[in-house]
Amino acid sequence: MGDTEKDIVQIVRLALTGKESDLRAYTKRTLAPILRRRPDLVPIGKEVLALLEASSPVRSATASVIDPLPVDLDSRQELIRRESLPELPPQIVWPPTVLKGLKEIENERDKQDQLIEAGLSPSRTILFVGPPGVGKTMGARWLANQLHRPLLTLDLAAVMSSYLGKTGNNIRTVLEFAKKSPSVLLLDEFDAIAKRRDDTAEVGELKRLVTVLLQAIDDWPIDGVLIAATNHPELLDPAVWRRFDRIIEFPHPTDELRQAFIEELLTASGSGNIDIHMVQMLTAITSKQSFSEVKREVDHLRRHALVFGTDLEEAVAESVATHIKNATTQSKLGWAKKLVASGYSQHKIHAITGLSRDTLRNHFPDHWDKRSRRLSSIERRR
Ligand SMILES: Nc1ncnc2c1ncn2[C@@H]1O[C@H](COP(=O)(O)OP(=O)(O)OP(=O)(O)O)[C@@H](O)[C@H]1O
Ligand SMILES: [Mg+2]
Repeated sequence: MGDTEKDIVQIVRLALTGKESDLRAYTKRTLAPILRRRPDLVPIGKEVLALLEASSPVRSATASVIDPLPVDLDSRQELIRRESLPELPPQIVWPPTVLKGLKEIENERDKQDQLIEAGLSPSRTILFVGPPGVGKTMGARWLANQLHRPLLTLDLAAVMSSYLGKTGNNIRTVLEFAKKSPSVLLLDEFDAIAKRRDDTAEVGELKRLVTVLLQAIDDWPIDGVLIAATNHPELLDPAVWRRFDRIIEFPHPTDELRQAFIEELLTASGSGNIDIHMVQMLTAITSKQSFSEVKREVDHLRRHALVFGTDLEEAVAESVATHIKNATTQSKLGWAKKLVASGYSQHKIHAITGLSRDTLRNHFPDHWDKRSRRLSSIERRR
């Protein structure tokens, strides 16, 4: 049996704070068990249910999937992008902390009813922070996909470029649209608002805009998901950070994750037998790069190999050569060490690093077989 007193308090709270969509959802859920227990209340209960169904002027189950998208009143351009069921690339490598966060949000949605019954709500507003190209936008897409909801994306940097008064109206329209039915709303480039702050002529307008957004974050419906993404978290006010139910940090990929990603990219591309050494080479030349940059590099090499009819390994070796062309001898020796460990021939390592064979022999005396060492000593004596 439910806790009727708690339900009453909850319903009154939602009504008085004007959270109409939450009120509707909560009332619907609470009413059914009450009517089962109290047949005498069925007539009035039916009336309430009919009202809930009929007077849903703003909310419908499918509005965010089929309704026309909101447009800018002057240009008639659509203000948001809609992906009904976002597609994902087949190779996704989530850092464990990111995956944990995303999964938790998904799990909370599975247990939404229990959470609400316990007086809690699932995470509705989430802030994604991290450098460019590490999967923030993809994370929103992933989540929408898992939750079987459309993804609505508002690029704040794009919308901010116009006259602020108009921007405010546009943002309001988008928020209203997204609230109409369950979706994932992504406010991309969330810091664009903070960046505009130095423009003193528009301070008042900007303040209003920020208030609108903060209010939207506070009041986001229980069945909605709002994600804000930024790669300039330092620009956001602590007051803004505090507003979000949850913050997920997207870190720069580690060597281990980059290697896993490269392996997946190559395996999926069907690039013949994938040599682990080649994967290690690629991992090394893409150090400090984001997932997005790594993908670009791998795609580039695959394209190159295909166009020039070489095999991928050769393309990778060439890329290593270009990468270390202007490096110091010390760093070239570091690379040579990797290549030696990968079983490359002395000849190849010489071609790739530009280090002389003598240098290579002196530094790695144990790594070539006795015969080649014997040969090399004969060569040296000559
Ligand atoms: N975790 C990941 N696993 C696999 N691929 C990834 C991952 N993160 C990013 N990518 C690749 O990089 C591309 C760009 O990623 P995404 O747009 O999500 O980056 P972002 O963090 O939103 O960057 P920005 O801050 O520039 O908007 C993706 O389309 C995908 O190809
Ligand atoms: Mg992005």
